[in-house]
Amino acid sequence: MVKICCIGAGYVGGPTMAVIALKCPSIEVAVVDISAARIAAWNGDELPIYEPGLDEVVRQCRGRNLFFSADVERHVSEADIVFVSVNTPTKTRGLGAGKAADLTYWESAARMIADVSKSDKIVVEKSTVPVKTAEAIEKILTHNCNAVNFQVLSNPEFLAEGTAVQDLLRPDRVLIGGRETAAGRKAVDALKDVYARWVPADRIVTTNLWSAELTKLAANAFLAQRISSVNAISALCEATGADVSEVAAAVGMDGRIGPKFLTAGVGFGGSCFQKDILNLVYICERHGLHEPAAYWKQVIEVNDYQKRRFVTRVVSSMFNTVSGKKVAVLGFAFKKDTGDSRETPAIDVCKGLLADGAAVCVYDPQVTEDQIRQDLAAVGEPMRQVGVARDAYEAAGGAHAICILTEWDEFKALDYRRIFDGMQKPAFLFDGRNVVDGGELRRIGFIVYSIGKPLDPWLRGMPAVA
Ligand SMILES: NC(=O)c1ccc[n+]([C@@H]2O[C@H](COP(=O)([O-])OP(=O)(O)OC[C@H]3O[C@@H](n4cnc5c(N)ncnc54)[C@H](O)[C@@H]3O)[C@@H](O)[C@H]2O)c1
Repeated sequence: MVKICCIGAGYVGGPTMAVIALKCPSIEVAVVDISAARIAAWNGDELPIYEPGLDEVVRQCRGRNLFFSADVERHVSEADIVFVSVNTPTKTRGLGAGKAADLTYWESAARMIADVSKSDKIVVEKSTVPVKTAEAIEKILTHNCNAVNFQVLSNPEFLAEGTAVQDLLRPDRVLIGGRETAAGRKAVDALKDVYARWVPADRIVTTNLWSAELTKLAANAFLAQRISSVNAISALCEATGADVSEVAAAVGMDGRIGPKFLTAGVGFGGSCFQKDILNLVYICERHGLHEPAAYWKQVIEVNDYQKRRFVTRVVSSMFNTVSGKKVAVLGFAFKKDTGDSRETPAIDVCKGLLADGAAVCVYDPQVTEDQIRQDLAAVGEPMRQVGVARDAYEAAGGAHAICILTEWDEFKALDYRRIFDGMQKPAFLFDGRNVVDGGELRRIGFIVYSIGKPLDPWLRGMPAVA
């Protein structure tokens, strides 16, 4: 029986391995992590991450051919294929701080693999890593373990949180990069065989190692760039009376452009886009490619601008101050259908509102109160001005304004008449995800701001740029 071990039981490692186990009953899959608490949660009733459909997949395979364990070394030593899906955050200090990827977790995983391996292994980069990381990994493995042959492959993950299970079941493509040697090709074929059990052959793409590593960074940069592009246009729409939804729909009908990822909003978040672009910028700079670096950096700058612009809209609309006013924040996750709040725009928006003296009351269907408080404390915000509510009605009760920061479906179906009746007047609603029907809310009596849409008379002429 082929044995797979995945180091890192996070948002990528957990769902990816669960789907491999589901589709490959003859393969034994062990997911290991240094966090005993995370492993306990994977083995319990409440999984450590929220993903639609994931519970069912895990329930079908757990204990059959899918195992979660904190016994990292044993499972690594027994495996034929070792996926490494550890976190690769942005470095916070030292060389490349603020841009380069921090490969500490990766390096310690690689050293451990070298230490415990007694049989040949295929080591698969599942984490997003800088291009050329495989070379460094090969050196660590071969210099620390002579008796064993390792083949390093790059197999970046393209799943999106919120749709991870569907993305894994029906991927647009699976990308596998390997060395262009006989042993490298054999390793690529072995990994291909795993995916070929459910992914059509024409969707499994093989490349050299560096193309695979760079593709992941490039794909995230392209996705984020589309969001910053439509957000840049949204600012111009507000200045001119154009409607960004109309513009985006018509632009997206061009077959060369396509309709996806053209929704204007308060900015992108999540653990990947910013970190991967910063990493790309850093790699460009290290190669002396300053213009490409500046180009990609601008994607992040427009994203920051969009968040600042939103806060300025809120404050300037409300008589230039939110001091002492209650602002309900609906949605804290960086997107709907996930409980993940890493790099969520909600953190920056709350920070801006709190800095102006607002009392924010947050409601999110999936992000826990502890997580919300932890995220806001991490950016230095005083907790006495932060409340967390159990539902949208509680959050909005007595509030002067509502800010919608995540596009959860339930925010479309709220009883806005009831909410309006319970709010201070004038009642403001700032829709950072364009989920509500502005016209309907105006009829109820709200003053509404929707990103990139023709402005309410109340908002015209007010500064929108921080
Ligand atoms: N989250 C996404 O949507 C997504 C999508 C595609 C790619 N990625 C990439 O995948 C990688 C993992 O992302 P994630 O969101 O799953 O991260 P995560 O933080 O959710 O999970 C990483 C896990 O690795 C564990 N870990 C770290 N070092 C370890 C070690 N030496 N031994 C055992 N366990 C260790 C951590 O305890 C943690 O549970 C990152 O490189 C990320 O950029 C993420």
